[in-house]
Amino acid sequence: MPNTILIGAQWGDEGKGKIIDVLTDRADLVVRMQGGNNAGHTVLVGKKKYVLHLIPSGILRPGKRCVIGNGVVLDPIHLMGEIDGLRKLGVRVKENLFVSETAHVVFPYHRLLDEHRETAKGKNKIGTTKRGIGPAYGDKAARTGIRLVDLMDSSTFSKLLQQRVHANNTLLTSLGSKRLSFKKIEAEYQAAARKLKPFVTDTVHLLHDACERGDQMLFEGAQGTFLDIDHGTYPFVTSSSTTAGGACTGTGVAPNRIDRVVGVMKAYTTRVGEGPMPTEDDLLSDHFHQMGREYGATTGRARRCGWLDAILTRHARIVNGINEFAVTNLDGLDTLSTIRVCTGYRLGRKTIDRIPNAMGQLAQCRPVYTEFPGWEQSTEKCRKWSDLPLNARRYLRAIAELSGAKLRIVSVGPARAQTIEL
Ligand code: IMP
Repeated sequence: MPNTILIGAQWGDEGKGKIIDVLTDRADLVVRMQGGNNAGHTVLVGKKKYVLHLIPSGILRPGKRCVIGNGVVLDPIHLMGEIDGLRKLGVRVKENLFVSETAHVVFPYHRLLDEHRETAKGKNKIGTTKRGIGPAYGDKAARTGIRLVDLMDSSTFSKLLQQRVHANNTLLTSLGSKRLSFKKIEAEYQAAARKLKPFVTDTVHLLHDACERGDQMLFEGAQGTFLDIDHGTYPFVTSSSTTAGGACTGTGVAPNRIDRVVGVMKAYTTRVGEGPMPTEDDLLSDHFHQMGREYGATTGRARRCGWLDAILTRHARIVNGINEFAVTNLDGLDTLSTIRVCTGYRLGRKTIDRIPNAMGQLAQCRPVYTEFPGWEQSTEKCRKWSDLPLNARRYLRAIAELSGAKLRIVSVGPARAQTIEL
């Protein structure tokens, strides 16, 4: 398999965990490059369901090496909990996991600030996962962050943490929070650091050496294109580079090592958190929620649902250089008699075919739909292209064409076997 970046082409939750799991079979290394435990990747293996937040889903395949790159912001206590949880389920996590020593650490003051900022925004809140992701990336950009390499050295860590707790206590108490105890955080983080130490390394050189040997790398994007700090629906975004470029900055692997970009999109659109979503449709949301689908893997929040928006997926193709699409959750549309796809926006008197950058304008965009006849039969047991109902094939061909890249994978359910490769 060529070195591949797998990226979400919508607002996250596209089903990347499952597609990564399928592709991991052919990779030597699976690499996370951004985000933190705001992500939630669900993978079903046999009857066992795994939800991974920080560890690449490649961990579920014996013999694969997993890397958490420098672009990730990492809560070491959460990571140790995730490792222990996987081990309890019988998954080996040992010499197969490597964590970048230059990844930034998430602290309790980041989580508290995340909460305070959201509360202060009132009805304009972003709807974050409250995992402290924004404040942790904020510290990184402000050059006041603490990296794993600092955490691993107890005297450096003590000094840095003392300064940071002091500065954040000043801020937090002014917002009405209780003071955080430096001693308590220090003790908890040092205990986690001792457990984490065997995994922490210089992943830039590890990945470079792997490239030189010809090992195949699969980069596992978290969140999705429209949550990207630069290319997303700002300010209703996360704080990292969720687009393909983030795979290089977030790992130290050079752009000319990348051979292929796979964009994952749902057969429709979902979003968690606030912000404009032109194709949002309450009836469709009810339809999925009544089926027990579309609840967030990290926060359990009901996702907002809507029709597929080809304006978005086409934009995702451009900013990520998507060569191939994987379409997931096709089975979610199985019972519908008519399926809509947004192919333009009405904005005032104009019809436009690009996403406006001003959020006020995006909020006013009314979708222009093309309708497709549904197939009204189950696709869950389809295992090859020719098994799919004719209308499903027509729909899939149309959305790939409207989005501008080849269709390579179709997923018709959460299990590994429910995957069609073209
Ligand atoms: P944060 O990443 O917690 O700061 O949240 C910022 C925005 O990104 C919010 O709208 C979240 O709901 C959204 N978000 C963050 N992580 C994910 C994810 O893994 N899937 C979907 N949405 C996410």
